Amino acid sequence: MKKGYYGEYGGSFVSCQMQEELDKIEREYNRLKKDKQFKEQLAKLQKHFLGRPTPLYFCEKLSKLNGGAKIYLKREDLNHTGAHKINHCIGEALLAKHLGKSKIIAETGAGQHGLAIATVCALMDLQCEIHMGYVDVQKQKANVDKMKLLGAKIVSVGGGGTLKDAVDSALSAYQKDFKEAIYCIGSVVGPHPYPSMVRDFQSVVGKESKRQIKKMEGKLPDYVVACVGGGSNAIGIFSAYLKDTVVNLIGVEAMGKGKNIGDNSATIQFGETDVYQGFKTKVLKDAQNNVAEAYSIASGLDYPAVGPEHAHLSDVKRAQYVSIDDKEALDAFYKLTKVEGIIPALESSHAVAYGLKLAKTLPQDQIVLVNLSGRGDKDVDFVLQQNH
Ligand SMILES: Cc1ncc(COP(=O)(O)O)c(C=O)c1O
Repeated sequence: MKKGYYGEYGGSFVSCQMQEELDKIEREYNRLKKDKQFKEQLAKLQKHFLGRPTPLYFCEKLSKLNGGAKIYLKREDLNHTGAHKINHCIGEALLAKHLGKSKIIAETGAGQHGLAIATVCALMDLQCEIHMGYVDVQKQKANVDKMKLLGAKIVSVGGGGTLKDAVDSALSAYQKDFKEAIYCIGSVVGPHPYPSMVRDFQSVVGKESKRQIKKMEGKLPDYVVACVGGGSNAIGIFSAYLKDTVVNLIGVEAMGKGKNIGDNSATIQFGETDVYQGFKTKVLKDAQNNVAEAYSIASGLDYPAVGPEHAHLSDVKRAQYVSIDDKEALDAFYKLTKVEGIIPALESSHAVAYGLKLAKTLPQDQIVLVNLSGRGDKDVDFVLQQNH
């Protein structure tokens, strides 16, 4: 496969000046990933700062109540800062230090990537600038307050006020600040080498879950289910099973309020191939062929594009992409909370909802492994305001 590409997707479509920076990042990352000291430093932080390995939890009550297959959760919600995002933030921050940068610029939707970046910046004495759509700033106030406490500067962004606008704003700030800053993207998106670098840092999720399920069940899961915004938690868990073709991989996109463009974030289902934000992928388009506003009840899923590897895995049919709407996600949020005592993030609730639907149709000896990408503390106020 061509460097930086997954099938026809990926690559790098940026200015010459930015390409020079990305080449530097790629060279340093390729050196570090083979470096014994770097690997030890990362492993130590994963264990003692992040709290890895995260548990694999058998939802005995929920499985029984639901009927059908056994439901397991990979508990990424138990990471420090409450989501899988810190898995790649810790790696990106270490890389920033090795490149001699003094500042990290990042975007955030649900605030989980921003919070994780602000946290590692505090740990590593880096300045931190987080770009966030104004709608998300209001909706995810708990995370905004934490980021501020950690010393981050928050840039509230206009336009549609969501993740797409935050990425545009962060990228443009980065272009003016190459000397001091590095851009730390929040998912497996953006120009090469970000999709492969973020995937590598997230692959710890899949590797751990594979060891854990073999120990607990003596076999691999029959299905692995994860929500897909940009696609980092999904690639993180899928990556360990790509060659195990007996394992069915299922990415869950947000169907939001319905099938009309503007009402959902189901990029793989409704998107067209195009270059967007520096890489080639599937993109949601409106009737005028402009990039559409994406929508989901979960701020971390409302992105109008998707990681290039997901677009490719869909094309070659190694993974299947389905969707869950707002109401189904809210139902799953309440169900997991009430039955198992685990409050999931609204993003992760999409994966839980599909996992439940699927498990019901399967025999009891089958295993559905759901990646619980984050915890729902950030969503509690918002959920309580909804009519449910
Ligand atoms: C808890 C949680 N899960 C999932 C996502 C979606 O991102 P990705 O598709 O990159 O995993 C987000 C994004 O903010 C998130 O906060």
